[in-house]
Amino acid sequence: MGEKLLLCALLANWGLSLRLENVSIPQYGIKDGGVTLGCFFDLEKDTFLVLKWYKDGHEFFRYSEQSTPFILTFPIDGVFVEITQSNMNQVVLRNISLRSSGSYRCEVSADLPSFRTLSQSGELFVTAPPRDLPHIDCHPPLIQQGDVLKCNCTSYASKPAASLMFYLNEGKANFGDMIEYLPALEPYGLETSILGLEFQVEVMHLKNGALRIKCTATIGNGYWVSNVTLYEASVNVNAQPSSPAGPNRLLSGVPRGNGSGGLLTLVVTFLLALLTHLHP
Ligand SMILES: *[C@@H]1O[C@H](CO)[C@@H](O)[C@H](O)[C@H]1NC(C)=O
Ligand SMILES: *[C@@H]1O[C@H](CO)[C@@H](O)[C@H](O)[C@H]1NC(C)=O
Ligand SMILES: *[C@@H]1O[C@H](CO)[C@@H](O)[C@H](O)[C@H]1NC(C)=O
Ligand SMILES: *[C@@H]1O[C@H](CO)[C@@H](O)[C@H](O)[C@H]1NC(C)=O
Ligand SMILES: *[C@@H]1O[C@H](CO)[C@@H](O)[C@H](O)[C@H]1NC(C)=O
Repeated sequence: MGEKLLLCALLANWGLSLRLENVSIPQYGIKDGGVTLGCFFDLEKDTFLVLKWYKDGHEFFRYSEQSTPFILTFPIDGVFVEITQSNMNQVVLRNISLRSSGSYRCEVSADLPSFRTLSQSGELFVTAPPRDLPHIDCHPPLIQQGDVLKCNCTSYASKPAASLMFYLNEGKANFGDMIEYLPALEPYGLETSILGLEFQVEVMHLKNGALRIKCTATIGNGYWVSNVTLYEASVNVNAQPSSPAGPNRLLSGVPRGNGSGGLLTLVVTFLLALLTHLHP
């Protein structure tokens, strides 16, 4: 072993033996999706012997032109190799799960003359985006100027917990108005995030007579973003002071806009969820 290392070191100095060009392991993957692991090398004067992929120290893929078939795979929890799309330079994993997270390493060995073995590793973190859009819940359901509006934005069951942010009329809400709660633990290691918002409704919140409250959920530094507008409120600024009839009229389905007696009528509008992928 010691002599082999010494020999490798000598050959490395000659610069004519195996070199690893690049090993690419995506930082993030999405549960139930796929990832491509890349391993490029330059043999120089060496001859190729074998290429192996390991997850957390366990070999799951071997490519050798001296065996039949060239590709061998070894079962490992959370690792499904798509053999038809894999070769000596890339390994495609499909149907990844949270158990696919871990340290991946590509190891290339050369035969004559250097017998050199090189490897490089990287971490893959599999994220599980929430199944649903974040949900905004506000109290009281009907408000007028001067009321204190309390809202919660909840993003259910993701890994890691989603980072939430409130927007009022497109601007970020004041940090002082937001209340951070610890994520709640769910089955399978998933987490539910909740962010609170509490503020007094002022004229300045009513842009063109409307107030829009939005909550976004983000995972992995923007790797995954859910972009939703949930509340839209409009007010008749010329209206009479609020009357007890207001809420009943809302409940009986009067459309928002005029004639709500100075009440803000809150309308929930789901716009869209946006799923962005960074390509490896
Ligand atoms: C890695 O190297 C190969 C061969 O030089 C090249 O084709 C490939 O684009 C490289 N990949 C990355 C991610 O740099
Ligand atoms: C993915 O894995 C799940 C459970 O591990 C399994 O039920 C499902 O059939 C798999 N899908 C594919 C396309 O292999
Ligand atoms: C917001 O969520 C917190 C934590 O679950 C809860 O204590 C609080 O009552 C909720 N507030 C509203 C307005 O729903
Ligand atoms: C939300 O999505 C829309 C449409 O894709 C985009 O124009 C807008 O900038 C996004 N807003 C945020 C806060 O991501
Ligand atoms: C809203 O009120 C304005 C002025 O009071 C009136 O001109 C307009 O027709 C009303 N719109 C609706 C939808 O009732």
